[in-house]
Amino acid sequence: MNAESCTYVIFGATGNLSRIKLMPAFYHLDEAGQLPEGTKIVAIGRREWTQEKWISEVKEMIQIKIKDAFDEKTFQNFAARLHYHFGDLQQPQSYSELATTLEQTQFSKNIAFYLSISPSDFGQVMEQLSKNKLFDESAGWRRAVIEKPFGYDLESARALQRRISQYLTEEQIYRIDHYLGKGTVQNVLVFRFANVMLEPLWNRNYIDHIQITHSESIGIDSRGDYYNGSGAMRDMLQSHLLQLLTLVTMEPPVSMEAEGLRDEKVKVLKSIRPISKEAVHGHAYRAQYASGVVNGEKVNGYLQEAHIPADSITETYASMKLYIDNWRWRGVPMYLRTGKRMKKAQSVISICFRHPPLQFFRDTVAHNAVDRNWVILGIQPEECIRMEMTVKEPGLEMKTRTSSLDASFRHSDEKAIDAYEDLLLDVLKGDRSLFLRFDEVENAWKIVDPILQVWATERDYVATYPAGSWGPEDSRLFDKECQGWRTSLTPESSTCKVNSDGID
Ligand code: BG6
Repeated sequence: MNAESCTYVIFGATGNLSRIKLMPAFYHLDEAGQLPEGTKIVAIGRREWTQEKWISEVKEMIQIKIKDAFDEKTFQNFAARLHYHFGDLQQPQSYSELATTLEQTQFSKNIAFYLSISPSDFGQVMEQLSKNKLFDESAGWRRAVIEKPFGYDLESARALQRRISQYLTEEQIYRIDHYLGKGTVQNVLVFRFANVMLEPLWNRNYIDHIQITHSESIGIDSRGDYYNGSGAMRDMLQSHLLQLLTLVTMEPPVSMEAEGLRDEKVKVLKSIRPISKEAVHGHAYRAQYASGVVNGEKVNGYLQEAHIPADSITETYASMKLYIDNWRWRGVPMYLRTGKRMKKAQSVISICFRHPPLQFFRDTVAHNAVDRNWVILGIQPEECIRMEMTVKEPGLEMKTRTSSLDASFRHSDEKAIDAYEDLLLDVLKGDRSLFLRFDEVENAWKIVDPILQVWATERDYVATYPAGSWGPEDSRLFDKECQGWRTSLTPESSTCKVNSDGID
């Protein structure tokens, strides 16, 4: 697939996402010669900035992000692609002015509109773009990239979908989940479907449970307004973590092509056992960070952060247990959790295999201490694929230890590519395989909606955890004493005692 030149129109270009992710990603793509000739990036902003002012702002964003890797000459070339367009989203006139600007010959008629704005504005921005014929594809393709969250719950997601589908066809909509652009996440598919030795083991007969942890050491920074209305369940679990779960558990798709991949992901989401309201407390846990120490520094609790009401019960930590009721996964618990201000920033998928039968070791010191096999998929900051195996310790006694087989995929001279680079390029190429189809979003909301509804009614109390810790005590989610959150990428010694049949 070759990318044609394109005009990227960014709504929310002066915001957080643009500073941290989008502009640095465009810069890197340009540096790597990946942006087709003639590609321009039009920023829509409410401030009356000149073109020069915008270029100096973007320069600062990139310098802050990439520090010593910044190159003045590369930036000067990149700056020629930048264009600032003054406009207020709330004013209809801004859209007709935008339409006039985009008629200039310097702008390619293939246009991608990137909506990095408050979700409450999605509908009206689309409506105005449509009214001004900006989604009309007679002169070139038109695509719209929508950042999450897509809706606030099932009902609002459906309402948003109904509204935007008046203006766009499904082929024009790119619902972004940047986790799908991450290196290890894409590698999950290769790891599972290009290695014949794994497939026979990848099911309920051999796997005890799967856990996915995304922990962050940062708090909510300046995003208080957004975050307080969202919380960890909507912000991370409903979107990124459920997507990771689908990739780890889905059936092999017929191809990497968009529809085949999405069909299989949807099947997983639909097979997840619904959580009834009565069962919510057994399946989900929420908590909020209190003050504490992160990386040696004293930090505020959530309630002391800017723009957070003193009585907020918004969760900054959420965990849940799910069951996928299909032939492959029936009875295997899937544990997912995420939190802000935790001890360490880390995203990991950990797959725990069942205990082997231990009869063989019955008269040895190993009989009670054979660890289970784990497959560890480190997503960030360390990208890795490891398999933990039990080996005999050198020496006279029959003692065992865990050794790790490393199938990590990046060589030291290979640079990691930010997820947004990949995804921004896919939009140009018209490849939607790493973007969400509406039924994925819809089914993901169906899973978490009952939890959110119960939490919304319980307003008197929310548990807390000290900032800088591994989160609250939520072990009640686990099915067996032997299961618990894993925090390390390297072998952890198990406290799990088994009987000689290997039954935990
Ligand atoms: C975003 C969430 O979608 O993902 C943020 O809104 C979160 O709250 C971020 O911090 C995590 O993404 P990454 O790529 O930094 O792991």
